[in-house]
Amino acid sequence: MRSTILVTGGAGFIGSHTTVALQEAGYRVVILDNLCNSKPDVLDRIAQITGIKPEFVEGDVRNDRGLDRLFETHAIAAVMHFAGLKAVGESTGQPLRYYDNNVSGSVHLLQAMDQASIKTLVFSSSATVYGDPQKLPLAEDHPRSATNPYGHSKLMVEDILEDLYRATPGWRIARLRYFNPVGAHPSGLIGESPQGVPNNLMPYIAQVAAGRHPRLKVFGNDYDTPDGTGVRDYIHVMDLAHGHVAALKYCEHAAQELLTVNLGTGRGYSVLEMIRAFEHASQKSIAYDIVARRPGDIGACWADTRLAAEKLGWHADKGIAEMCNDAWRWENVPT
Ligand code: NAD
Ligand code: UFG
Repeated sequence: MRSTILVTGGAGFIGSHTTVALQEAGYRVVILDNLCNSKPDVLDRIAQITGIKPEFVEGDVRNDRGLDRLFETHAIAAVMHFAGLKAVGESTGQPLRYYDNNVSGSVHLLQAMDQASIKTLVFSSSATVYGDPQKLPLAEDHPRSATNPYGHSKLMVEDILEDLYRATPGWRIARLRYFNPVGAHPSGLIGESPQGVPNNLMPYIAQVAAGRHPRLKVFGNDYDTPDGTGVRDYIHVMDLAHGHVAALKYCEHAAQELLTVNLGTGRGYSVLEMIRAFEHASQKSIAYDIVARRPGDIGACWADTRLAAEKLGWHADKGIAEMCNDAWRWENVPT
């Protein structure tokens, strides 16, 4: 058995899939989650997949006492920090809630880690830090910017991590910039469970295919893209999960490290291509209307994946057919 990893936000979408990948790679996992956007039944579902129920601590990353106790009572070797809020639109209306959870939460976690001499961290950043792309594919040295509090919170934490790395010897930090994570575990046991009406394309399409919404709104068909609709680099969540394990292993072998890498496939698909792929996977027709652009959206975005391949020896394997098949299987699981 390898070392024990603390996974903050491990009951959520990406954290739960990464927990599966960590367990399958031989790591022991302790999840810390306040369940503000997830349910505890995910723990049994993870156990059904891997045969091991991860230890669960219900708590908040902003709770110093709770963090200290957790680090005192568990031999944690490294932390994967997923806990945070992620709805771009909501962040514009509730900036303080976002800065408190995402920025302050990260600072509290880092302080507790520093105190406990745990200096290995994998952090969930986002392709949102690239703002409106000046050049595609997006390489890690592309200028960064943000247009909403969610994006600012990711930029701020990236900068805090850099300052910490420069100030204190021995930190091993991976800042992983995810493109558009979609899909679900192929077992159909875990997946994405957005609360209320989904903001993101893939869960919305899945719910239209399932008859939960009558039609999809396609936000704009006048972008400078082959069919005019927005193009994104969708990445299967299990590929993303394996990227985290690769980043952890990379950090484990370094004396100190500040690694910043994209996790994407390097290939973009338009909204209309995603609709067609999902129709094929679900054998349902997806009704849609073209409506105005969504404020703040960019036209196209996909990753330069060379650095991830070079540094981590990792690349995404799964294509959009698997992403749609797995998302559809998950959509049909009784909850
Ligand atoms: P998610 O909401 O499914 O998971 C986040 C988990 O963190 C939830 O289980 C929630 O209950 C928990 N949480 C939130 N605030 C907490 C706090 N203060 N203390 C303890 N637990 C807390 O989201 P996800 O899609 O799995 O995203 C995980 C991370 O990846 C987030 O940091 C997000 O910003 C980042 N990210 C996500 C995407 C995406 O499209 N899903 C893209 C780029 C980056
Ligand atoms: N779209 C629609 N209709 C919908 C939802 C989305 O047409 O109902 C379109 C969007 O306009 C965009 C594409 O589908 O062209 C993808 O939109 P998503 O909302 O699924 O994803 P975004 O690229 O806008 O943003 C996501 C996350 C952000 C993250 C970013 C980069 O929501 O948090 O990817 O990682 F920062």
